[in-house]
Amino acid sequence: MTNFARGAAPRKILCVVGARPNFMKIAPIMHAFRAHAPQVEVTLVHTGQHYDYAMNEAFFTQLGIPAPDVSLEVGSGSHAVQTAEIMRRFEPVLDEHDPDVVLVVGDVNSTIACALVAAKRGVKVVHVEAGLRSYDRAMPEEINRVLTDQLCERLYVTEREAIDNLAREGIQRERALFVGNVMIDTLLHNLPSAVPAAQTISDAWAKNGAPANAGAFLRSPNGYAVLTLHRPSNVDEPAVLARLLDALTTISLDLPLVFPVHPRTAERIRASGHGDFLASPRVLALPPIGYFEMLGLNRDAKVVLTDSGGLQEETTALGVPCLTIRENTERPITITAGTNELVGTDPQAILAAVAAILREGGKRGRRPELWDGKAAERIVADLVGGAWSQHATAAEAHA
Ligand code: UD1
Repeated sequence: MTNFARGAAPRKILCVVGARPNFMKIAPIMHAFRAHAPQVEVTLVHTGQHYDYAMNEAFFTQLGIPAPDVSLEVGSGSHAVQTAEIMRRFEPVLDEHDPDVVLVVGDVNSTIACALVAAKRGVKVVHVEAGLRSYDRAMPEEINRVLTDQLCERLYVTEREAIDNLAREGIQRERALFVGNVMIDTLLHNLPSAVPAAQTISDAWAKNGAPANAGAFLRSPNGYAVLTLHRPSNVDEPAVLARLLDALTTISLDLPLVFPVHPRTAERIRASGHGDFLASPRVLALPPIGYFEMLGLNRDAKVVLTDSGGLQEETTALGVPCLTIRENTERPITITAGTNELVGTDPQAILAAVAAILREGGKRGRRPELWDGKAAERIVADLVGGAWSQHATAAEAHA
């Protein structure tokens, strides 16, 4: 396998996506690469970690991401099986395309799997959204983050603190570049296309054959809250899930909940005998929805209750209060600068935080530094310039 010379500009770049949160990150990067065609040749590989239309293809269409050049169609499995299957299927693709650089985004299993294959083949890897740390190794994404960053030649970060996190793990500061947040590039670019919440809510009720309920739901004096839950720590343990659903039922009496349900969460709720939560007249449970619909729901919400990483950032950019149902976050800037608050999983703390928002309106924040819609342009300019590749390789630096 050839590798381009130190300090040279890469000409062949292979980008990897796999799961839903990757799609909003790759969209502006693919767009920014277009300005460098045909000198820079970009290949998009989709691992197929997420495969349902609503979790996958719908985002390619709405966000204008070109169809993948290669689809690995790995599907679901245990972490080991899924990661191994991605590696096994990615290696021949890498050999065939022989890129100068592999670009990975985020922290999902596809990210670490492809970074590991490429690094072992001697291909330079760059990571978008590097350096975020929850310091909680019980989170599968934390393991993916730490290992991916160790393998990368270039680390693009969304907040300055991430560079300190990398330095603590022995990664030279010169390898990192603070560029801003590609997820927020996508948000700012697509805000004009956001579907108003009122429309998404009435469409959903109409589909259920009960359009009259939508009016009552929307006329609620407090507005509504958006709820998302999918972290294994919240949904895999029946006792934890039951406690959370109890608290959320109480909240829904004051503040109706719009709940786009992740497939794993729907399965866990039903399996634990709490399916009635999804049928409550104060809870509008939706199947996974499109980006434009979600953007409108978040923008118009009183508060967002979530355990997602991306939503913590999106609510900060939108200026909407966010209560994060986790004990830690890898995105501290959303707390120090933004509208995010960590409430943990204790029902009393969650209820008190929602009551405070209903009383006082919730936390005001500002948009963090460089979350300005131009992160992808900065990444692509740096990447195709090639100056970053004059540093010693990751392998040499750690020798
Ligand atoms: C993955 C990411 C997580 C990210 C989340 C966003 C890892 C370790 N986790 O978690 O960081 O926040 O995506 O959604 O990579 N399923 C479907 N249809 C699909 C995909 C999945 O029904 O298109 C179901 C399957 O039953 C599967 C389960 O959802 O077993 C979980 O999917 P998986 O990709 O394993 O992890 P996520 O929980 O989605």
